[in-house]
Amino acid sequence: MKNIIFIAPPAAGKGTQSSYLVKKYGYVHVSTGDMLREAIASGSELGNRVKNIIDQGLLVSDDIMIDLIKDKLTSIKGKPFILDGFPRTLNQAKALNEMFLNLNIDNYVAIYLEITKKLAMERSLGRVTCEKCGTGFNKYSVEKMPKKEGICDKCGGNLISRTDDNEESFNKRFDTFIKNNESIIEFYKDLNRLEIISANCTSIPTFEGIVKVIND
Ligand code: AP5
Ligand code: MG
Repeated sequence: MKNIIFIAPPAAGKGTQSSYLVKKYGYVHVSTGDMLREAIASGSELGNRVKNIIDQGLLVSDDIMIDLIKDKLTSIKGKPFILDGFPRTLNQAKALNEMFLNLNIDNYVAIYLEITKKLAMERSLGRVTCEKCGTGFNKYSVEKMPKKEGICDKCGGNLISRTDDNEESFNKRFDTFIKNNESIIEFYKDLNRLEIISANCTSIPTFEGIVKVIND
């Protein structure tokens, strides 16, 4: 079973697919977005530094992100992992390659989840999460719609949106992704590590495509 690097636009389904993979295979899910949102919620110095950047849909600096991932990879050494949200720039991809060499990590695949901007925007604007138990739903997806609007199916808690799930921030995040993506894709293509899987569909065919490439 290979370690996974997800490369994908906002709301393509990185978090959703990661949760399936954690359940089926016991991967450690390393989501840089979740790590930063936890830092914001805890009121830490890092959280205060990045809050505005995230709300606007801009990228946090490479230095901060590379240090975060270096610490995380060192602490989980030996366990299979998913990188969800890193690398997002060519600099980050190069730094990750260095880390892999230093930590002797060679069993990995970079999976590009392809999705149209229109569909990704719909998923972003429809995404809601239970503030009590953290379960995710989507207002605009038949597959993931809550039974009762605004209420969690599991625990009855309130469903809330992420502060960066608005049209302006989504556009910024998506356009930033497109700007950086080509060089990152080329980087992993040159290393012979790239797999491309469609996310323009329900989550199961995407998951089946991922399962195939991690077990190849
Ligand atoms: P991050 O949290 O990573 O946000 P993102 O990349 O914009 O991705 P999302 O979490 O929005 O989408 P996702 O692909 O996980 O989709 P999900 O599965 O939830 O990063 C946030 C911010 O942190 C960045 O903007 C940046 O500021 C900063 N940051 C993080 N990493 C950084 C880095 N390395 N460098 C610099 N800055 C960094 O799915 C979306 C919705 O669709 C859900 O509601 C889900 O239920 C639904 N859904 C999923 N799949 C399907 C399907 N197949 N059919 C129907 N609905 C579906
Ligand atoms: Mg996510």
